[in-house]
Amino acid sequence: MLLPIILTIAAYLIGSISTAIITCKLLGLPDPRTQGSGNPGATNVLRSGGKKAAIITLVGDLLKGLIPVLIAQALGLEGLALALVALAAFLGHLFPVFHQFKGGKGVATGLGVLLGLHWAVGLGALVTWLLAAAITRTSSIGALAAATSAPIWVALIMGDAWVTIAACFMMAFIYVRHASNIRRIMNKTEPRIGQKKQP
Ligand code: G3P
Repeated sequence: MLLPIILTIAAYLIGSISTAIITCKLLGLPDPRTQGSGNPGATNVLRSGGKKAAIITLVGDLLKGLIPVLIAQALGLEGLALALVALAAFLGHLFPVFHQFKGGKGVATGLGVLLGLHWAVGLGALVTWLLAAAITRTSSIGALAAATSAPIWVALIMGDAWVTIAACFMMAFIYVRHASNIRRIMNKTEPRIGQKKQP
């Protein structure tokens, strides 16, 4: 009982470390929260800080979802306990205790979580993201497609009810966090990948 609680808290704290904010600070780049969409995530760092900072942000955000889930599984957690660790890492990114609870949209961290849960689940979501993003040249459309696909991949590949519910929660949070993106997609004003100008 104690181990799942400790791992859930640790996952939340790891998720709370904002790779985007730290990377930009270390590289002397503008704070992503004051640039473009204002989102502390790889897409927005690409706009304001360039490719190198964006890749570091993407990998860092992915790892903070991946590592807690891998550790939890290695220590024998499954079902509800594993779902809670997964969700905690994800929610840490969205509501980071180290950054006044104002975090990112959860796409890269969610992808890391999915890769940790099962490599094939992560791969399914990644391929969905890449295909949708490549076709539309729009990061948010890729993110929304991948988020929508996540519970389906989890249910089909893992068949675990608790983890499927966690994936549904992640999908819902990603949709809510992309509300402004969805509005811009509808208005056809959502910027393409790498496009600096934010309408
Ligand atoms: O992963 C976030 C992406 O889907 C959208 O980011 O900066 O365009 O709002 P942004």
